[in-house]
Amino acid sequence: MDVKTGISGKNCAQIVKHLSVILSDTYFLAVKTQNFHWNVNSPLFHSLHLMFESQYDDLQEAVDVLAERIRALGHFAPGSFAQFSSFANIKEATKVPSANDMLKQLLADHELICREIREALPAIQKQGDDVTVDILIARLTVHEKTAWMLRSSID
Ligand SMILES: [Fe+2]
Repeated sequence: MDVKTGISGKNCAQIVKHLSVILSDTYFLAVKTQNFHWNVNSPLFHSLHLMFESQYDDLQEAVDVLAERIRALGHFAPGSFAQFSSFANIKEATKVPSANDMLKQLLADHELICREIREALPAIQKQGDDVTVDILIARLTVHEKTAWMLRSSID
């Protein structure tokens, strides 16, 4: 059924393209952060273990918000590993890095999502989708704050 909420079908499709990339990268980053929560080895184990847990909790909640926004725009959300892989720019962790390298990888990934959101925002603003803009600004705020915390934890 057509969505008649005031955004054209063409604009919805373009917004969904941006959201699909951001959703897939958020999903990949949630998995990577949970991986590091399990596998980190460090004298600061407890702090890092808990910091990573709060980060993947946030990312998993964000995945749901982003996917449901795609549905409200009249499209199906990517929902399989194959689909996430086809959109994501973040690379999976293939081995267990040092704690310091985990922090550096997660920092780079949060910064990448910040840049993706910044690139997407002007077009989405122009298309008049204030709801998606609002969601993405909230995500940008969290990614920038998380990036600061990761940056400040690197040895
Ligand atoms: Fe846990």
